Amino acid sequence: MADFLTLHEIVKKARENLDQGAWDYLIGGADTESALRRNRAGVESWLFKPRILNDVSQVDCDTELLGQPMRIPVVMPPIGSVQAFEAGGAASVAEATDEFGILQVLSSVCTPDFETLAAQHPGPRVYQLYLTGDEAWMDDIISRAIEAGYTGFCLTADTQTYSRRERDILKRYVPLSGRIAGGGDFKAQAKMTWDTVAHIKEKFALPLLIKGVGAAEDARRCVEMGVDVVWVSNHGGRQLDHTRACIDVLPEVVEAVAGKAPVVVDGGFMRGADVVKALCLGATAVGMGRFEGLALAAGGAPALLAALQILEHEIKTTMALAGANCLAQLSPDLLCRDAPLAPAHVLSAFPFLVEGY
Ligand SMILES: Cc1cc2nc3c(=O)[nH]c(=O)nc-3n(C[C@H](O)[C@H](O)[C@H](O)COP(=O)(O)O)c2cc1C
Repeated sequence: MADFLTLHEIVKKARENLDQGAWDYLIGGADTESALRRNRAGVESWLFKPRILNDVSQVDCDTELLGQPMRIPVVMPPIGSVQAFEAGGAASVAEATDEFGILQVLSSVCTPDFETLAAQHPGPRVYQLYLTGDEAWMDDIISRAIEAGYTGFCLTADTQTYSRRERDILKRYVPLSGRIAGGGDFKAQAKMTWDTVAHIKEKFALPLLIKGVGAAEDARRCVEMGVDVVWVSNHGGRQLDHTRACIDVLPEVVEAVAGKAPVVVDGGFMRGADVVKALCLGATAVGMGRFEGLALAAGGAPALLAALQILEHEIKTTMALAGANCLAQLSPDLLCRDAPLAPAHVLSAFPFLVEGY
């Protein structure tokens, strides 16, 4: 295991380890990839207005989500076919998140499957399901997830159908989950409505996360229906193209939710400073999908653990230098906006890559 000291080294190692197919599947987006670039441009357009002379000799950034303590306000979101990046797949993610102390959200389209993983790694974990069957089928899976010890259930609502990921299509690359534009069974996903949410809330006590919220109106409806976590996401720019940056959707969702539920956001967050920006804008926690995939590709669970430790260092350093010693001191007052310095792209958080470091 290399002795990683920066996230840059981890991303560089991931690039060395992955073939072109797996690399493009991980970093690519839908159609023109504008949503993917906007996610990064949005994050880069928020700047800090630091405050000084506020004792930051001790900085605390631990929190909780769904009653689970978290060492940093970050979750590892669901990644389908994650075993394409490192053979251990979701089990490697579980190993690192359990040891570090944050929440993993397991995808239903990866290995190991949810019951095997829970048996191997008992503990708090959320299960994200893509519907491929009717209501009875879904109810059975939710019951089995509860039985297996999952502490939350996540419905991804932005995948009514599988998008057109042209990097993959151009190479005729088919992800391990078997999905490619036009393929797979998405009828049940496409049929999902608010009645699906009402049904789950009525029948199960398991906390429900709705992932893929992109507008205040839907966030408000989630809260009205008792959804336990509102998750702002455009699937990392991998589903609907030409969406707003998720960090730009966040303030209106936070306002609509009005403290009645935690708000998770993902999309374009790669570094500790990025996480702090989302927290300033009212997020409870930040999901980091490509961060998770890249770290895993760099060396499995040990590399992901190293990445999380570096991330924690970055978060605490940013908070100290912005003048905040705890999460309660992070507010929109610490931010302002300006244009990003250069056109943003999926890896623009790592500027030294292009210089060949
Ligand atoms: C390779 C890959 C596979 C993904 N698979 C899933 C999935 O199975 N279910 C899901 O809800 N989201 C999936 N996502 C979306 C992530 O959960 C998350 O929303 C997204 O990666 C956040 O953007 P970021 O990569 O810029 O952090 C996937 C993302 C990537 C990069």
